Amino acid sequence: MKLEIQSPFDMHLHLRDGEILRDVVNYTSSQFCGAVVMPNLNPPITSVKLALEYKTRILNSSKYDFSPFVSLYLTEELDKEELQKAKDNGLFMLKLYPKGATTGSENGVKEILSDKVLEILEVAENLGFILSIHGETNGFVLDREFEFLPIFESLAKTFPKLKIIFEHLSDRRSIELVERYDNLYATLTLHHMLLSLDDVLGGMLNPHYFCKPILKTPKDKETLLNIALNAHDKFSFGSDSAPHLISKKECNNGAAGIFSAPILLPKLAEVFEKHDSLENLEKFVSLNATKIYNLNRSNRKITLIKQELKVSKIYNDIVPLFAGDSMSWSLEQ
Ligand code: DOR
Ligand code: ZN
Repeated sequence: MKLEIQSPFDMHLHLRDGEILRDVVNYTSSQFCGAVVMPNLNPPITSVKLALEYKTRILNSSKYDFSPFVSLYLTEELDKEELQKAKDNGLFMLKLYPKGATTGSENGVKEILSDKVLEILEVAENLGFILSIHGETNGFVLDREFEFLPIFESLAKTFPKLKIIFEHLSDRRSIELVERYDNLYATLTLHHMLLSLDDVLGGMLNPHYFCKPILKTPKDKETLLNIALNAHDKFSFGSDSAPHLISKKECNNGAAGIFSAPILLPKLAEVFEKHDSLENLEKFVSLNATKIYNLNRSNRKITLIKQELKVSKIYNDIVPLFAGDSMSWSLEQ
């Protein structure tokens, strides 16, 4: 059995830089024709110049035809001129990190509803940017996303023409808000729809499944999986594949992030088939993104084939999601 998917997109991706970028980019660009690339590098991508240089490095590292949509890291220093310049250079994504919420958020925003930030967002709204947000407070770890909902709501109301993406939605209590506001959308990761906190902490500690937002309850993952299987119009696929070297995961102060890039479409095909929903996979990984983000579909088609894929235990010193497992689908080469 084969399945052809037109122009799949990964709408939330970490590619890092330098050697790691060169090691990981083709896992994504072999499967996806484009991806929204996160700017939480060190130093972060806070200017148009940095974003365009990063985009060039990504393009130079990819063996496949691939469009990286690099996000601009939102800081309080971002001004009207820079936003205009971003728009003129084809950048259209802004990423807001609450300061301290996750990896590389040290330069994030301290007070999201401050006058300064609201001014920036008003300019972004008028210029037609899409704002993506890591929505977590610094409260109790399982409630961080839930506690952030009033901020999403306030932004959605204040800027009705600004498209706001609720990144890696992980808590089923968030869904109703996304459905309620026309300008709110969300991305879903593979790991939040297939794993729960038990997979991190239920047996021996598994640092490779530690991520932010933290994996939630079995009921949350089931609810998210159903949204994906039904290809809900307001949700697109965003893997949040976030590679960290094994030495940065298996140590004190282990980094948050799950490296899922090598197995994404094969695993999605396996799961969608298992739940009799293969006919919705293209909508979830392609059509929804083109509609929500106004993207052109590329002419690239990806063919998946029902053939066993053995997932390696490690790729370039990075342990992947489902390391060592077998999947029932592969990418046709
Ligand atoms: O688990 C995560 N890892 N969540 C994030 O928000 C950031 C990411 C990373 O950059 O490693
Ligand atoms: Zn991320």
